[in-house]
Amino acid sequence: MKSPAVKPNKMTERLTVGLGERSYDIYIGSGQLAQLGALIAPFATTKRVAVITDETVHNLYGEALAMALSAYRTHLIVRPAGESQKSMANLEEILDSLFRAGFDRSDLLIAFGGGVIGDLAGFAASIYKRGMPFVQVPTTLLSQVDSSVGGKTAINNQFGKNLIGAFYQPRAVITDTDLLSTLPVRELKAGYAEVLKYGLLGDALFFEDLNSGLGADILALKSEALSRAIYISCSTKAKIVAQDERESGVRALLNLGHTFGHALELEAGYDGDLLHGEAVSVGMEMAFQFAVNQGLCKADCADQVSAHLAATTMPRIADMSDLLREPEALLRHMGQDKKNEGGQLTLILPRAIGDTYVEKRANREAVFGFLTQLKDNAA
Ligand code: NAD
Ligand code: GLY
Repeated sequence: MKSPAVKPNKMTERLTVGLGERSYDIYIGSGQLAQLGALIAPFATTKRVAVITDETVHNLYGEALAMALSAYRTHLIVRPAGESQKSMANLEEILDSLFRAGFDRSDLLIAFGGGVIGDLAGFAASIYKRGMPFVQVPTTLLSQVDSSVGGKTAINNQFGKNLIGAFYQPRAVITDTDLLSTLPVRELKAGYAEVLKYGLLGDALFFEDLNSGLGADILALKSEALSRAIYISCSTKAKIVAQDERESGVRALLNLGHTFGHALELEAGYDGDLLHGEAVSVGMEMAFQFAVNQGLCKADCADQVSAHLAATTMPRIADMSDLLREPEALLRHMGQDKKNEGGQLTLILPRAIGDTYVEKRANREAVFGFLTQLKDNAA
């Protein structure tokens, strides 16, 4: 596919996710929303687009979006905000809306929102008439640094997070950093967990930068710090996805903290009590402590992670006493994780900060003992 006919404005950074014929660009910068119409032109040849967004994003940016898409016939689907929207019932409503409006698979779908909208709209795009093209326009820090890139799309069910879904790449990711100015602090911190993840999983120098003030600047919404974090996170993710699109190897590292985190999320229910990024923050602290507990990693590394989480007032194990009450339930939830194979528990574990690996045979008894210890400490 040819590059768009417009020149992105001079503040724009452009990265490519190299996946052969499914390659696509990520545009990062200020003012991208206003350029959306031009940037999607190569993928919206019918001039007909469906936009899936949530109420909060629509209230804040609906007008700006309408202006940006004034050259297109636009069908708007606005859903309530929140993780509980990643459900089969909601997916069906979205598909019905596309059918009622008569969308073809040559039309374009735009996911305009955070990771919930991106995952949901991306999955809808992947199955609507066996697949229609879609573009990600992420509006939260979490979605700008992580979920909009890489083609994982999914909904949740009673058995756990993201258990029904598809790998389905967008045609482009258009990231307007200006949109983050309205993000509540709690959501900003949830996104910061995924930024921190990139340092912890494979880039000790990036962790050092985050620890030496970059993290605080991101959380203070300083625009240069945000752009840098988004650029570094997306380029790391783009490289990993290009090597291992379907998570048969290195991509699993992007799940650092997620197996523990997903179990906490399921235990909390998907009603906003524990955000995904909050669960990842706690899950990464758990992964480091478990690794120390197993003699895989020096205590000093886990201490540094905990100290950084404390200094940036991120969610920590100590805040989770309610959710840690039932180690059996948490272990059961971990057993549903998609990374598991042959009934074995897979965990991403650190040897040090910036040095992680995929453990395909994590010892269940050891994990249970660790969870029990956390419960006892919390009591
Ligand atoms: P979200 O989509 O629920 O957005 C968080 C909240 O912020 C919502 O209430 C939303 O309405 C609001 N919001 C969005 N943009 C805003 C803005 N600019 N200003 C003010 N408010 C705004 O949550 P999220 O943290 O973006 O995404 C979490 C989801 O992403 C989870 O479901 C998680 O599983 C998924 N995820 C997917 C991947 C992937 O690779 N596909 C990776 C990480 C996370
Ligand atoms: N967020 C994990 C992945 O995209 O693989």
